[in-house]
Amino acid sequence: MKIKKIKSHFKGKKILITGHTGFKGSWLSLWMHHCGAKVLGISDSIPTKPSHFELLKLNRKISSKILDITDLTRLRKAFIEFNPDYVFHLAAQAIVKTSYSQPIRTWKTNLIGTVNILECLRMAKKKTVAIMITSDKAYQNLEIKRGYKEKDILKGTDPYGASKSSADIAINSYYHSFFLKKKGKVLIATARAGNVIGGGDWSPDRIIPDCIRSWSKNKKVIIRSPNSTRPWQHVLDIIYGYVRLSIKLKQNPKLHGEAFNFGPDRKNFRVIDILNKMKVYWPKINWNIVKQKKFKENTLLHLNSSKSKKFLQWRTALNFSNSVKFTIEWYKYYLTNKKNIYYYSSKQISRYVAILEKKVS
Ligand SMILES: NC(=O)c1ccc[n+]([C@@H]2O[C@H](COP(=O)([O-])OP(=O)(O)OC[C@H]3O[C@@H](n4cnc5c(N)ncnc54)[C@H](O)[C@@H]3O)[C@@H](O)[C@H]2O)c1
Repeated sequence: MKIKKIKSHFKGKKILITGHTGFKGSWLSLWMHHCGAKVLGISDSIPTKPSHFELLKLNRKISSKILDITDLTRLRKAFIEFNPDYVFHLAAQAIVKTSYSQPIRTWKTNLIGTVNILECLRMAKKKTVAIMITSDKAYQNLEIKRGYKEKDILKGTDPYGASKSSADIAINSYYHSFFLKKKGKVLIATARAGNVIGGGDWSPDRIIPDCIRSWSKNKKVIIRSPNSTRPWQHVLDIIYGYVRLSIKLKQNPKLHGEAFNFGPDRKNFRVIDILNKMKVYWPKINWNIVKQKKFKENTLLHLNSSKSKKFLQWRTALNFSNSVKFTIEWYKYYLTNKKNIYYYSSKQISRYVAILEKKVS
């Protein structure tokens, strides 16, 4: 499928995106808006200040509802009124560290919130394609080198990972119990990705936002686990994966009920590698390494994405250097041109699509 066809595929379609005020959700909402889709975003709040969603002034471009997905009555009403063609479920309490201080909120949002989305899908009045976002942290982390495959055991241990494993199991259960029917209305698939970087993230306790917060004040950032490795990848590569999955799922019902990993081809990089790479594009930045760990976070995570490559023909367009370059360029632009973020984020999407076009042609 030609990348240009993405636009025609979604033009005029009704797309419901949960978590649209968050990091990934704001990029997906912007991309879908550019495709000419009718987007309804559902989130409980605008979770950060600054916020990519606010900088883009997306509330003037798409429909936006502040709604807690644990409130089934309001959620169902919004679903029925909007009657979506596509659902991308991204809303979550997405921070591992916060899941230790707020385990109940994490479980409620990530598990009960997901079950509520599934309940709404169960009432769908027309053919609806649903892409459910969980996480690489849903896998039982055996600290092994081989990449996790979709059939590996789901058994996160921290409250975030465990709530995502449980959400994943709930999705599978709804598929088998309600959506498997031959003439059913819902086509559903699960997407599991690893750590994402990109402009517009201000979440707490994530490496890039932590760095930007310090560097914008000309301070050194404190680094606690320089040797932790992660499958860093750019947010647009992952959003493209979700979009690609939704298109392929609509075209090929055999993908119904399946889970897909979206991870980079390359080896995992360490925190120190990403810092050194950022310094290439922003030489004045600096850091201090303080070796202390405040909470347990697994250090070795790697996804095997051969299934996405085979069935979705999904590829990452940006290598590690370009992923970091896109990210740093975005924040440097933001620091001097806060008012033009709609223009700059849109330009990054166009640049990304151009790179992707070249790669797939
Ligand atoms: N960013 C990553 O590196 C990463 C990695 C793997 C998986 N994920 C998953 O991708 C999805 C998006 O992640 P993100 O980085 O954009 O997260 P984010 O924290 O930036 O955004 C989360 C969004 O969910 C919304 N939300 C939270 N609780 C809610 C509730 N109870 N009701 C309605 N909305 C609620 C927030 O308002 C926000 O819009 C999440 O499901 C996350 O678990 C993210």
